[in-house]
Amino acid sequence: MAALREVLDSGWVAPAGPAITAFEAAIADATGFPHVLATASGTAALHLAFRVLDIAPGDEVWAPGFTFVATVAPAVQMGAMPRFLDVTPESWTLDPDLLRRELAAAARRGRLPRAVVAVDIYGQAADLDAILAACGRWGVPVVSDSAEGLGAAIRGRHAGRGALLAAFSFNGNKIVTAGGGGALASDDPVLVARARHLAGHAKDPAPHYQHSVTGHAYGMSSVLAAVGLAQIVALEDRVAARRAIFARYAAALADVPGLAFMPEPGWGRATRWLSAVLVDPALFGADREALRQALDAAGTETRPVWKPLPAQPAFRDAPSAGGAVAAGLFAQGLCLPSGTGMAREDQDRVIAAIRAACRG
Ligand SMILES: Cc1ncc(COP(=O)(O)O)c(C=O)c1O
Repeated sequence: MAALREVLDSGWVAPAGPAITAFEAAIADATGFPHVLATASGTAALHLAFRVLDIAPGDEVWAPGFTFVATVAPAVQMGAMPRFLDVTPESWTLDPDLLRRELAAAARRGRLPRAVVAVDIYGQAADLDAILAACGRWGVPVVSDSAEGLGAAIRGRHAGRGALLAAFSFNGNKIVTAGGGGALASDDPVLVARARHLAGHAKDPAPHYQHSVTGHAYGMSSVLAAVGLAQIVALEDRVAARRAIFARYAAALADVPGLAFMPEPGWGRATRWLSAVLVDPALFGADREALRQALDAAGTETRPVWKPLPAQPAFRDAPSAGGAVAAGLFAQGLCLPSGTGMAREDQDRVIAAIRAACRG
């Protein structure tokens, strides 16, 4: 409230001013990226990433199939063709071995992607080093969709670090929110400066309105930056709280047959933004949908994990490679209530309802 009052009193409510600068500096501090642009959403940040990479109609943009639609939607809106690759069962993130093979095959066809998007899922960093090595061989730029990755670590650094561009989200359901908003980050000041220009309607320096190219209204409002600024200081506490919630589910349900919690591969520290679990119907005695409905009847809203994009009607014509892992995750995966502020008794109720639904 104090931060909001300060912004309103200052008169800076537009997508400019000291709160924006301070929020961008706080994001830089939290992620290690030296250059940051605060945006109206994570989707806007991804769109700007594709703009500064000059994605053109007909280009291929590759991404894991197991993700939220916004990972590729802006590229599709630019006329690009998405191609979906499978994820690994160990991380639920993009499979670097498959990527390596597919890039080699694409190079033989003479049709490399214009960009590969790595995605951090449910607070778990993708294996960016392996992805960068695979793409580096062919000079393909890597964008990190770290919308769900704020606070996650990969080999001691922040998720997304190493990608040419990384997008973050401060949407209302994220671990740190501004009510809505996002950020585009990079080591390259030129790319971020270009994105900043495009985010403000690409106004050329002139006394009148002059545009050499068309841009977007993608700046973040100072009011939202103030909210984000007040929240981001709590990032580490929230990561600890989410990890504790996940650990409590895992410990309390360890003896329940047929439940397998999202694994955490050795290369990183997940934030456990969402606690996700797989339900093996043969062992649990009920499938994921039956468990979801049982929890719903007990007053607990849960949601299946991402429905793979190749299975979405919007992408029925998009090519893909593999997909059995993502399909299996969707068949069995459920996101449990994971809010930082969840009371112990509320979590106990969810745990009891899961135990009660088990017929295995
Ligand atoms: C993987 C992923 N990418 C992109 C986005 C888009 O972020 P926003 O909602 O801020 O546009 C989200 C979240 O909403 C997401 O989960």
